Amino acid sequence: MAGSTMRFGLIGCGAIGELRAQALAQMEACQLVAVTDVDLVRGKSLSQRFNCSMEADLNLLLKRDDIEAVIVSTPPSSHAEIGEAALQAGKHVLCEKPLTRTVAESKQLVKAAEKSGKFLGTGFNYRFYPSVLKARELFDSGLIGELDHIRSYAGYTAADHHQAWLHDANVMGGGALRDNGIHLIDLTLYFLGEAVQVKGFTSEAVWGFEDCEDNGFALLRNPEGKIAALQASWTEWRGYKFLIDIYGTRGAIRASCFPMLTQVTWAETTGGRTQSKSEYFPYIQVMEKLRSYRWVVVQSFIREFEAFTQAVQGKPSEIATGMDGLRAVAVGEATSLGEKVLEL
Ligand SMILES: NC(=O)c1ccc[n+]([C@@H]2O[C@H](COP(=O)([O-])OP(=O)(O)OC[C@H]3O[C@@H](n4cnc5c(N)ncnc54)[C@H](O)[C@@H]3O)[C@@H](O)[C@H]2O)c1
Repeated sequence: MAGSTMRFGLIGCGAIGELRAQALAQMEACQLVAVTDVDLVRGKSLSQRFNCSMEADLNLLLKRDDIEAVIVSTPPSSHAEIGEAALQAGKHVLCEKPLTRTVAESKQLVKAAEKSGKFLGTGFNYRFYPSVLKARELFDSGLIGELDHIRSYAGYTAADHHQAWLHDANVMGGGALRDNGIHLIDLTLYFLGEAVQVKGFTSEAVWGFEDCEDNGFALLRNPEGKIAALQASWTEWRGYKFLIDIYGTRGAIRASCFPMLTQVTWAETTGGRTQSKSEYFPYIQVMEKLRSYRWVVVQSFIREFEAFTQAVQGKPSEIATGMDGLRAVAVGEATSLGEKVLEL
């Protein structure tokens, strides 16, 4: 770190790279130093707008010794190779989701991080959405008692895909479970803990994208036998939906977006009189209406970068690690297979 500032390089200057750059521009503890993209025009344009340099290729960016960490925001088929090269070059890595297309690729990347001694994070920024942060705080306070089970859902329509690679299995490794569903899998595991057993089904009768499920339905079990049921969908015709319900022995918490909302119901004793409370995050909801959901995403990226720098400094952090990225891909892969005992 230069003083207390962490210097970043950005690999991939598309839609998410742009939002990552916006987040870094609002931070004092982090700085965007250089970008690169196979599309040189796009790379140049971003570097000019964010007042940093552009390197003509990945190797030139990785050679720079004024860069300590990189963000990998290219399509998933290149994550393993770029991530590994960056780790070998001595950079910490924050890799966009899904970490990679397959469990085998993710294991290789996690191993490369261990070998390099550098930090590998996975871009599961939903952990930093206000409704999820609030749910985590309520859950950790013990208000709803002990965890009993989880039910979660993420859906939108594949008609909204702006890039064809989103439904190309060679690039993504799968369908809804690798796309929006991978955030859902991570959040479900974030509250459930490790999944040791997965059973599931996938369907692809609506869109007909080869080897990309329209819907993935998974049942997970943790080592204590607690269960989670999740569904990731590309056939949600009513607009974007995301929610996680965490059921305890004395109540339940729901975190959802968009709009950002956390609802909790609890009782002093199991089966006792319940109370309910909702957190509406009015400032976030107004800004979301005025500036679009992208503003909310950028805010979550800022918190995620803070957590990333804490992790690099060896401090406790809520950042998703490379291992968390691997676990999420493993659940996606196991669901597509129908049934699996997970040993990672
Ligand atoms: N965190 C989130 O909520 C979220 C949301 C959407 C997408 N994503 C993830 O972010 C990543 C990028 O998605 P996007 O929507 O920005 O895609 P995009 O297509 O808009 O941008 C990708 C960019 O990477 C560049 N690129 C491709 N291969 C490259 C390579 N080998 N080296 C350098 N540059 C390369 C492309 O030219 C393009 O500019 C994906 O992994 C995607 O799954 C995350």
